[in-house]
Amino acid sequence: MSGTHWNDYLRPRENFRECRRQCWTCFAGQRERIRQLVRTRHPHTIVCMGSGSLNDLPIEDFIDEGASVYLVDWVRDVSRLAYLHDIVQPGQEDFQCVICRSRGSPQTYCPNHRPFPKVPDAPRQVCANFRLDSSGLPLCQNFEFGTDPRFLQHDVTQGRGGEFARRVDRIVERARNPKAVFQNALREVHRLETVRECLPIPDHSVDFVTSAMLVSQFEFEPYGFLARRLVERFGEESLVRQEEKLRHPMEKLRDRLFQIQVDGHFREIHRILKPEGRVYLSLESFHRGSGKGPWFRVKELFPTLAGLERSFGFDFDAVPSLANPDRTKILEGESIIQSFVLVPRPEGEASVP
Ligand SMILES: C[S@@+](CC[C@H](N)C(=O)[O-])C[C@H]1O[C@@H](n2cnc3c(N)ncnc32)[C@H](O)[C@@H]1O
Repeated sequence: MSGTHWNDYLRPRENFRECRRQCWTCFAGQRERIRQLVRTRHPHTIVCMGSGSLNDLPIEDFIDEGASVYLVDWVRDVSRLAYLHDIVQPGQEDFQCVICRSRGSPQTYCPNHRPFPKVPDAPRQVCANFRLDSSGLPLCQNFEFGTDPRFLQHDVTQGRGGEFARRVDRIVERARNPKAVFQNALREVHRLETVRECLPIPDHSVDFVTSAMLVSQFEFEPYGFLARRLVERFGEESLVRQEEKLRHPMEKLRDRLFQIQVDGHFREIHRILKPEGRVYLSLESFHRGSGKGPWFRVKELFPTLAGLERSFGFDFDAVPSLANPDRTKILEGESIIQSFVLVPRPEGEASVP
């Protein structure tokens, strides 16, 4: 089979430092709401779906709480790299290790953590084993990964997005023309309803799930992979010539693919969440490119929320500012981001798609 392979396609697009520089400030509102939720609800188990470069996740607060944390992303090692970057932070006078501040058991995050012998001293920012590793990141030479956080390289749509990409790869390879690709791909999307690849997390075991800035991504991937494979197989020129003819099947496919991933995603969140658990959900609702161009709806927000309502209710009192969307600059563009706290409906009442 020629062309890009799905596993190679799923790599970070930009270097970590560049991603942090561009995204840290614009996700500050997201981080702050998640922080407030963690500080008020004290969850024991946290699952962050689409954790990426941890720009919107206050990992230090998760560790402060002593929570058991799963960071889930289908891009290999992306969250692990960000985590390494976040453990040791330069303080006003010295370095601080967020693991040493944990009210839980710091050894679960780093088995080499050694507390100082008890002396009536000012609280320490680092432990007795701290040795600054001055090469590259501020990190401790003695840091070792513990049992937490757990980094899962997984698809959070119950495997539907990834399975589509793998199946469409074969479809592109065998089809005689682009129209046949769309027809066969659409048929394949309907078959994805039976795909249920769950995360290795037990049913109803999680107190808090985050799905921050993730759902809007389902509109772009794995469709972007299909687009790349089409260009590789048929050439850009031929696709541009057929653009008009392909528009309708393409839009139909994208809509259906988006919906089936969203359904799998909410289904998986509902499966792992405790009955009294909570979900922080944020999604981009409007976007505009560089300059002062027109705003575009990223995706129909209300049909998405209607699907969600089958299994969750909304809690707008959990954190102040939930009802206000964030308006933020991302890369060259600008986005409106809507945030929600979700409450799971009891098993019997929920009609999970
Ligand atoms: C826009 S980022 C969200 C922000 C991210 N938490 C951060 O702070 O960098 C979306 C992340 O979700 C991941 N993602 C998208 N679709 C996914 C899927 N189906 N399964 C797992 N991860 C996915 C992407 O790889 C990316 O890292």
